[in-house]
Amino acid sequence: MALDFDPNDLIIPKNYGVSGQPHGIWSQLREEAPLFRCESDDFEPFYCITRHADIVSISNKPEIFSNARGPMLLNREQRKREEDDPASFGKMKTIIEMDPPEHRDFRKVASGFFTPRSIHRLDEIVAECAREQIDKLGEEGETDFIDAIAQRHPLRVLATILGIEPADEDLLLELTQQLFGSEDPDLQREGEDRGEASKQLIADFGALFTRIIADRRAHPTDDLASLLANAKMADGSPMGPMETFGYFLIVFTAGHDTTRNAISGGMEAFLENPDQLDKLRADPSLAKSAVEEIVRWSSPVNYMRRHLLEDVELHGTQMKAGESLVMFYASANRDDTVFDDPFRFDITRRPNRHLGFGTGEHFCLGAHVARLSARALFHELASRVETIERVADPTQIHSSFVVGLKTLPIRYKIRPAA
Ligand code: HEM
Repeated sequence: MALDFDPNDLIIPKNYGVSGQPHGIWSQLREEAPLFRCESDDFEPFYCITRHADIVSISNKPEIFSNARGPMLLNREQRKREEDDPASFGKMKTIIEMDPPEHRDFRKVASGFFTPRSIHRLDEIVAECAREQIDKLGEEGETDFIDAIAQRHPLRVLATILGIEPADEDLLLELTQQLFGSEDPDLQREGEDRGEASKQLIADFGALFTRIIADRRAHPTDDLASLLANAKMADGSPMGPMETFGYFLIVFTAGHDTTRNAISGGMEAFLENPDQLDKLRADPSLAKSAVEEIVRWSSPVNYMRRHLLEDVELHGTQMKAGESLVMFYASANRDDTVFDDPFRFDITRRPNRHLGFGTGEHFCLGAHVARLSARALFHELASRVETIERVADPTQIHSSFVVGLKTLPIRYKIRPAA
């Protein structure tokens, strides 16, 4: 079988920054090599899982495909840092690094907060956030859509849910960008030494969380930060300090960066498919199905890593216990055995069984928040936009894990709110 591509394009962050998600390669792999072993320049070897059915099956067997080594593949430098300094994020355990039964106990701590019913009470608040963001654009002008809208709106929504002071929003935004964009020259922390920068980043997150946890223990409210700071496990014992930090870390960071990338990916798709924007403008209630299509289309969480707890044979290949595999959600979301015409952006697509939020044991805890947040924004935008166009090419973040646009310069005319 002649597979002719550069394996670095599958995983090296810089290559995503230059060329985006490698859809051409994934199509070839889904067709010809559904269990491809990738050996890139910098990362440990891993198996690529590119078919929708395989990701569903693997995600439903956490007893074999474990999360315990973390969701991200580490490059050589990151692995060395983790070995040299085990008292880093490695000790701050997030629920995405847990397997059952531990995972289920910890997930229960916050799952009640994230049910559709519980999130539904935020409808009006989130709609108001969207209105305010679009109002800030004024009636016409030029701006970077990411800076002005895509990153501000989900951050505002998350800050509201968590109960973070507006003064801390910018700090949280900066730290999150440094965390997910650690390989991007425009987002990295200042300074030569990456090891030192990474330690400082951990310390800054730690200081922010310590301050918020102390405050919510002294003055609990009904926000999510209070729930996490005062959480008790099933046996009545308080949640451990590292697990509390881990929960804060995943909710504070995964909670807005991913949604930002979905919103910017959605905007780019609308600009490239103006007929779909016209459809949404004609009927803004389509925002609900549009958001599912946007998450399928953009797949902001590009992949999740699992490692094998036992030997497993798949597609005729024997994988060994301890080896890593990477489930590329973005590839599964273009699988033509599941989606008709998968490279068509169609906001009325039905059914839309995308895997953008994962599936099975670790299905995204914040999916309903993300949906509500993106839906409110596109509903507001579609109801008020008169014209919108790109004024320069977008740029992409150098990241292969949480992927998306860095800039999207636009020109627009917007109607005032009714
Ligand atoms: C469009 C936005 C989002 C996307 C695409 C997304 C995607 C994902 C994916 C793919 C997973 C892993 C699923 C797996 O391993 O099977 C995940 C897990 C998670 N997400 Fe999201 N997410 C988004 C927004 C959010 C928001 C808004 C929050 C919180 C407010 C959130 C919190 C979490 C948490 C806590 C987990 C870990 C769940 C677990 O391990 O049980 N996410 N997300």
